Amino acid sequence: MGKDVIIALDFPGAKETMEFLDRFTDRKPFVKIGMELFYAEGPSIVREIKKRGHKIFLDLKLHDIPNTVKGGMRSLRDLGVDMTNVHAGGGVAMMKAAVEGLTREDGTRPILIAVTQLTSTSQETMTGELLIDRPIADVVAEYAKNAKLAGLDGVVCSPLEAGRIHEEAGSGFITVTPGIRFAGDAKGDQARITTPEKAKEIGSDYIVVGRSITNAADPVAAYERAMKEFTE
Ligand code: C5P
Repeated sequence: MGKDVIIALDFPGAKETMEFLDRFTDRKPFVKIGMELFYAEGPSIVREIKKRGHKIFLDLKLHDIPNTVKGGMRSLRDLGVDMTNVHAGGGVAMMKAAVEGLTREDGTRPILIAVTQLTSTSQETMTGELLIDRPIADVVAEYAKNAKLAGLDGVVCSPLEAGRIHEEAGSGFITVTPGIRFAGDAKGDQARITTPEKAKEIGSDYIVVGRSITNAADPVAAYERAMKEFTE
């Protein structure tokens, strides 16, 4: 399953996004559209990028009552995205509702994954602010099991947690891992990070790379470096 690099298109609008994508003349990378771009441009940006031949992970992290999430997913299901997600913190009933909403009449649907704990969340934040008094690795593993129980295909998690998730939820359960930095890069706001090479070793199925590619002097070279380190 997977073994691909997904570029996070965290840009303010269509203009910057298309200028960025125009640089990729050889390969069409798998890309992630998050809330910044989707809220600015709406569904048309998804269709436009799809038309250019990219696979798309629509990262909107739905988290609401089950009925609302089901309706939201129903609105997304015919957009032609390849992958989308919800927060596992919304619970099993909410995740089941997401599967229902996303499933098309012919029974097919995009890959649906759950965010366990954001890779920007540290143990101190979890214990001190969220009042979750358990080791972060246990919380992530438990949320992954809930996602599997609800019928989802995998989770978004830190690459550092991918190994344990495969152990507990099976190797076919997809791990999509942001929090990727090249050796020597700035950490930014991320807390639980590693390099593409290390993520491969631990067993991530897809890595999501944002600023290490989008802010690079040569983004195409940075993408090729990530692909080489992660897939070869
Ligand atoms: O720039 P950077 O590589 O840190 O970007 C990571 C991307 O992955 C961002 O778009 C962020 O929203 C997303 N993400 C994350 N942690 C999660 C889920 C998604 O960092 N748990």
